[in-house]
Amino acid sequence: MREGPTFGTVFTIEMDPRTAVFVPRGVGNSYQTLEDATTYSYLVNEHWRPGTTYPALNLADETAAIAWPIPLSESEISEKDKTTPRLADVVPMKPLKTLIVGALGQLGRALQADFPDADVVDLVEGAKDGVLDVSDPAQVAEFAWHDYQLVLNAAAYTAVDKAETTEGRRAAWAANAAAPATLARVATEHRLTLVHYSTDYVFDGTAELHTEDERYSPLGVYGQTKAAGDIAVATTPRHYIVRTSWVIGEGRNFVRTMQQLAADGISPTVVDDQVGRLTFTADLSRATRHLLDQGAPYGIYNVQGSGPRTSWAQLAKEVFRLSGRDPGEVTPVTTQQYVEGREGISPRPANGVLDLSKIQATGFTPADHLEQLRDYCESDRP
Ligand SMILES: NC(=O)c1ccc[n+]([C@@H]2O[C@H](COP(=O)([O-])OP(=O)(O)OC[C@H]3O[C@@H](n4cnc5c(N)ncnc54)[C@H](OP(=O)(O)O)[C@@H]3O)[C@@H](O)[C@H]2O)c1
Repeated sequence: MREGPTFGTVFTIEMDPRTAVFVPRGVGNSYQTLEDATTYSYLVNEHWRPGTTYPALNLADETAAIAWPIPLSESEISEKDKTTPRLADVVPMKPLKTLIVGALGQLGRALQADFPDADVVDLVEGAKDGVLDVSDPAQVAEFAWHDYQLVLNAAAYTAVDKAETTEGRRAAWAANAAAPATLARVATEHRLTLVHYSTDYVFDGTAELHTEDERYSPLGVYGQTKAAGDIAVATTPRHYIVRTSWVIGEGRNFVRTMQQLAADGISPTVVDDQVGRLTFTADLSRATRHLLDQGAPYGIYNVQGSGPRTSWAQLAKEVFRLSGRDPGEVTPVTTQQYVEGREGISPRPANGVLDLSKIQATGFTPADHLEQLRDYCESDRP
């Protein structure tokens, strides 16, 4: 009864006590008992739910033409079964769906392009399928998880410095740790796949190259909450944790800020002792699609732009150059110099370069981050 090429396919079997049949979701089943005192028993992995329409087929349907051993005219049929539709009138059962959570963020918007049939929700109004605050247990409890087989969790509290404030700390723990833990529980209960996104900020940045199995050592509140979220997500059997860094997409981000400063004639000071590589959301979304399409083993995968490691100051200079400003207008400073006289700056890892060999071994080639930066700056301006 499922939508697709097997819709309407019939399979029959004469059973005895030595046989059990697994009936997958969306496959209708019916039976006749051929002897008195026969027991026909079901073991179920999901119960009937009120408010859900299940497709049903008339036992006498001419297209399916089931060869009932006892003619239907001689068998007992319930009133309900007499009213079920012919195959031509059956509404096929839809496949289970994909849900994008945090769909209005930078990554959420890119995921929407690669998963066009997905349902999309966000914390605030504006997403096609409404509001879902994943840190609100009541909203999560009410949500129709039964309809989904895949959840892409692009929701996060990403204001790194604000996370160090009293209010920000609470919000960051709710969105980055408690919410993924809730989603992991949901994923286990409903046997769905959960894709979650992590960050190089779960490390202190002392390693030259961050591999997937490096131990957590976050410096600030944001990194601490993200590490807690990773640990929670890893408890559900079907999970991908995509670890990334310096995300650039549609929305507010470092490159947009530098373009704006360049356009406004401002000459900024930018830190030069934190190195990493940019990750463009289109590439991150493409990697997500790749892992799922390949059926790659569950676990953690680093995904970041390839190419040379660069500092924030080097990137700012490149944005200035691409904006037609003199890169010399960007003054490189140390983190120490930058934070002096500024309140509430969170500590950040000095090195955010991720080892890409695991994702590359699955057949995915991350694009060069500086080439993508050029395309990004040329195609769109603030
Ligand atoms: N940005 C980076 O540089 C970076 C680096 C490494 C890893 N990451 C990770 O990559 C992922 C995507 O980041 P991004 O840059 O796309 O973030 P983003 O632009 O800040 O988007 C996050 C989205 O999640 C929503 N959201 C926040 N709390 C939520 C909640 N409780 N329930 C539902 N939605 C909620 C936000 O809504 P509001 O805007 O209304 O709050 C926003 O639309 C995150 O897991 C992030 O930690 C990001």
